[in-house]
Amino acid sequence: MTSPTSVNVADLREVARRRLDPVLDSYFAGGAGDERTLRDNEAAFDAYRILPRVLRGVGTRDLRTKLFGETISMPVLVSPTAFHRLAHPDGEAGCARATAAADTIMVVSMAATTAIETIAAAAAEADRPPRLWFQLYPQPDLAFTESVVRRAEAAGCGALVVTVDSPVFGRRERDLRHGFLDLPDGLCCENMRDPETGGIRSIVMDAGLDWSRIEWLRQITRLPIVLKGILHPADAALAARHGADAVLVSNHGGRQLDGVPASIDALGAVVDAVGGQLPVLLDGGIRRGTDALTALALGAVAVGVGRPVVWGLAAAGEAGVRQVLELLRADLDRAMALAGAGSPAELTPDLIRPVVRR
Ligand code: LAC
Repeated sequence: MTSPTSVNVADLREVARRRLDPVLDSYFAGGAGDERTLRDNEAAFDAYRILPRVLRGVGTRDLRTKLFGETISMPVLVSPTAFHRLAHPDGEAGCARATAAADTIMVVSMAATTAIETIAAAAAEADRPPRLWFQLYPQPDLAFTESVVRRAEAAGCGALVVTVDSPVFGRRERDLRHGFLDLPDGLCCENMRDPETGGIRSIVMDAGLDWSRIEWLRQITRLPIVLKGILHPADAALAARHGADAVLVSNHGGRQLDGVPASIDALGAVVDAVGGQLPVLLDGGIRRGTDALTALALGAVAVGVGRPVVWGLAAAGEAGVRQVLELLRADLDRAMALAGAGSPAELTPDLIRPVVRR
């Protein structure tokens, strides 16, 4: 059971800390290098303030959000995180059930410890297909990459989230110190199963990846393509030109290039660069409804949460993920009411101000 005193994500993080093996806790919590970006993702929200509107009649609030023609119950989705079965035996299937119950999207990690077909079965509800997207590290072996895309399509995934911030793996010194390298016996990256040999391949970070691979993906699949890990406005502009359907402003939770800006600080320039041509999503540091509100007001159509979901899972399995998502929903709903917004569309940049320091 989750402790009854868990009233926010930070509380659940502490429950998770008590439950997780410290080496695994470090894997999930850690970032690259000096962890500047990791810290900054959360800390950066402290530089923004909300200027609320009043007397706006917010008695009926509607958090529903449309993405690629599908309506989800709130503009908060589950960003991809690896190895859920290391956090809790409920694993990705439990996370998928909790996300389905919250009527939002789970982005399944290519490094999931459960096969996409199993996750899809867990997420499916009688009246609708699973709301899953699939995160892809395009592999240098195009035929294998295509086989993974076909599995994601067949499982009913609604989009491909292509991670573009990882030409090489970030240097995570906590993991190096602990010697955390591989999954224990019995767990593997089920979505890396080779269709020919039945063996599990290692995920390769492809340093040769370039825009031509995005165009190749565009040709082999009709699924919407979300580019995850866009920070530079010039890349956001290129994304539209190369057939992407959305960009996800993200720094991989501070786990790749240390020293890049907090996601929230990179958002505005990306939103300006895409100029309404593509939806812009954001993940990184969202821990409260007010964080989500800030990102939505600054132009994100939805925000993703990664570590909060891992903490919920570690704290109480499927029920913990549900708790995280419902806490965030309630917190965002309350923040919207207090800011005078009845729907995410009413969250506009004029509601956000830089903090005044004295
Ligand atoms: C990570 C990889 C698996 O950040 O995306 O650990």
